[in-house]
Amino acid sequence: MHSTVCCVGAFVLSVTLLQVSGLETIVGLYGETIEVPCYGGAPAPVSLFIKWKYDKDDGSAGDLLIKKKDEQASILATDQYKDRVNISGNASLLIAQGTLQDQKTFTCMVVTESDVLTYPVNLLVHKKPSQPTITDTAEDLENGKLTTLGKCIAKDANPAANITWSRNGKVFAGDGKMIIITSTVEVDEATGLSTTTSQLQYTASRGDMAAKFTCRAQHILGPDQESKPNTFSVRYPTEKVSLQVLSKGPLKEGDNVTLKCKGDGNPPPAGYNFYIKGKKVTVNSDTYTLVDVTRETTGDYKCSPIGEDSVVASENLTVSFLDVSLSLSGTVVRKVGESVAVTVQKNASGEVKVTWTKDDDKLGKQPRFDKLKYADSGNYVCEFSTAGLSQRRSFKLVVEGVPVIRKLDKQRGEDGKHKVLICEAEGSPKPSVLWSINGTSEESAYVNGKITHKIVMVPTENLTVSCTVSNDLGQDVKVINVSSLFKEEEKIMERQDQTDDSGDQAKLIVGIVVGLLLAAVVVGLVYWIYTKKSKQGTWKTGEKEAGTSEESKKLEENNHKAEV
Ligand SMILES: *[C@@H]1O[C@H](CO)[C@@H](O)[C@H](O)[C@H]1NC(C)=O
Ligand SMILES: *[C@@H]1O[C@H](CO)[C@@H](O)[C@H](O)[C@H]1NC(C)=O
Ligand SMILES: *[C@@H]1O[C@H](CO)[C@@H](O)[C@H](O)[C@H]1NC(C)=O
Ligand SMILES: *[C@@H]1O[C@H](CO)[C@@H](O)[C@H](O)[C@H]1NC(C)=O
Ligand SMILES: *[C@@H]1O[C@H](CO)[C@@H](O)[C@H](O)[C@H]1NC(C)=O
Ligand SMILES: *[C@@H]1O[C@H](CO)[C@@H](O)[C@H](O)[C@H]1NC(C)=O
Ligand SMILES: *[C@@H]1O[C@H](CO)[C@@H](O)[C@H](O)[C@H]1NC(C)=O
Ligand SMILES: *[C@@H]1O[C@H](CO)[C@@H](O)[C@H](O)[C@H]1NC(C)=O
Ligand SMILES: *[C@@H]1O[C@H](CO)[C@@H](O)[C@H](O)[C@H]1NC(C)=O
Repeated sequence: MHSTVCCVGAFVLSVTLLQVSGLETIVGLYGETIEVPCYGGAPAPVSLFIKWKYDKDDGSAGDLLIKKKDEQASILATDQYKDRVNISGNASLLIAQGTLQDQKTFTCMVVTESDVLTYPVNLLVHKKPSQPTITDTAEDLENGKLTTLGKCIAKDANPAANITWSRNGKVFAGDGKMIIITSTVEVDEATGLSTTTSQLQYTASRGDMAAKFTCRAQHILGPDQESKPNTFSVRYPTEKVSLQVLSKGPLKEGDNVTLKCKGDGNPPPAGYNFYIKGKKVTVNSDTYTLVDVTRETTGDYKCSPIGEDSVVASENLTVSFLDVSLSLSGTVVRKVGESVAVTVQKNASGEVKVTWTKDDDKLGKQPRFDKLKYADSGNYVCEFSTAGLSQRRSFKLVVEGVPVIRKLDKQRGEDGKHKVLICEAEGSPKPSVLWSINGTSEESAYVNGKITHKIVMVPTENLTVSCTVSNDLGQDVKVINVSSLFKEEEKIMERQDQTDDSGDQAKLIVGIVVGLLLAAVVVGLVYWIYTKKSKQGTWKTGEKEAGTSEESKKLEENNHKAEV
């Protein structure tokens, strides 16, 4: 068997030389089992045996294994391949746990009945780098200053990986001045794997605050790998400040107002100077509160970062105010008929709207009391309002007066049996009404100083009735004569009726008299004619009348008989 191998070896040498030009190259993965194919894609020939060997570094050939037809493969290697090689069903060489040392030429030798074929294959072993990481990062960046931002490392690759840098996902390249990218590749002596390191020196600006920096490793074995993002704080001086007035709505007297100063530097200024009405106040924060502002607070306010007086912001503060006065207040008591002056004074930072109400009803204009009436009594409210401010003033007006009876009258009750006396009075406070007689009395509502009192009575005799109205201020009395006779009053009324209708009645009387005379003439005429025609007519008539009665009697009797 050994001899055979030897002889075949001699053959192979020449064949190898012939085929070297068409050397196939395959890539295997580091650390994995690498399959080196035998026939290079050609259909498998019918072979007696297959042998795998490789080119040693010194140029000599190293045997790996041999597989005879229908037999198990036997390992020939004694070196590092002794435990790592095997052959697959389709004659491929399997190399376990590939390393860079396996980057050699492997040759498959196929011996058939008539020929010896060799298939040399060049093996390359590749490895993807580990995920790149950014290390040695800067604590912060300074605006406009070239600073080493960090290093990106992509470890253990073959071939070496390329590293690129991105800011917010956009790749940027070095320009040698503002951005300098320095890449180095180190090869590990033991494994032969390459580690790529890329250092980024970067000149930051304000816009780089919170920007996401990442690096990317590119490798022929597949998709790019990206590092985790890093952000950096960029230090820059304050160039601008803003002054904010923190208050809801228009500022008014009595409010507290906070001024907030904000510089655009990073880090922000530690403190600010506030210029309050020309007075400088230094605070170690960014706010200053004005408590209980007044109209005097109105003015121009400024602030600037401590130590940077040239960076200033200013804001005008306007405090609204509303001063009002009303000449009347509390409870105002006046006599009816007097005059009362109502004067309003107002001084405000803007237009003032004034509205009046009396007992919750809106009044069109300011009330005037030139001659007080009872109806003027009431609760008066005056509302003043201007931007953000409003005030109200009120007074209660009470109009007083001695009661006066305006009217004392009598009426006949509807049934004609009672009399109703009516006493109408005016006065304030509400007068009490007293009658000099007993009776069912009825009092109206007391409105605008007026009251009406009624009493229902049955006069048994001629009376003089008095109505007395009184309050704290005085009283008034009036009397009325009431007769006991309803008829007497009726007669008076009838008499009045007669006198009223006397013309018509005279005509009627004349008419009746004429009518009666005519009737008498007619009767006389008829009688005269009758007596002249027959003097016995009277008896005839009498007989006839008697006969008639007799006849009717007879008739009645007959009727009764018929019924029986
Ligand atoms: C050899 O066979 C294996 C499966 O046994 C297959 O994965 C591989 O692709 C084959 N190789 C060639 C060169 O045909
Ligand atoms: C080599 O492969 C054969 C099957 O092709 C298997 O039976 C044998 O165990 C393998 N030997 C080693 C050392 O892996
Ligand atoms: C790496 O960079 C070099 C030069 O910039 C380039 O030629 C090569 O193709 C790159 N490799 C990959 C995998 O991108
Ligand atoms: C203003 O601030 C003072 C003191 O902090 C407080 O007593 C007062 O109630 C505040 N006034 C208003 C209107 O918030
Ligand atoms: C404040 O008012 C003054 C005078 O009315 C004016 O000159 C100044 O520009 C105002 N300032 C601001 C910030 O509006
Ligand atoms: C209104 O108020 C302002 C500020 O208090 C004051 O200067 C002015 O004299 C007042 N005007 C009147 C008419 O009272
Ligand atoms: C009214 O009635 C009371 C008791 O009913 C009586 O004492 C009084 O004398 C009466 N007054 C008049 C004026 O009739
Ligand atoms: C009441 O007065 C009328 C006249 O107004 C008189 O005729 C009558 O007699 C008087 N009656 C009594 C009871 O005094
Ligand atoms: C009431 O009657 C008296 C006499 O009885 C008389 O003097 C008086 O004038 C009358 N009063 C009125 C208001 O009619």
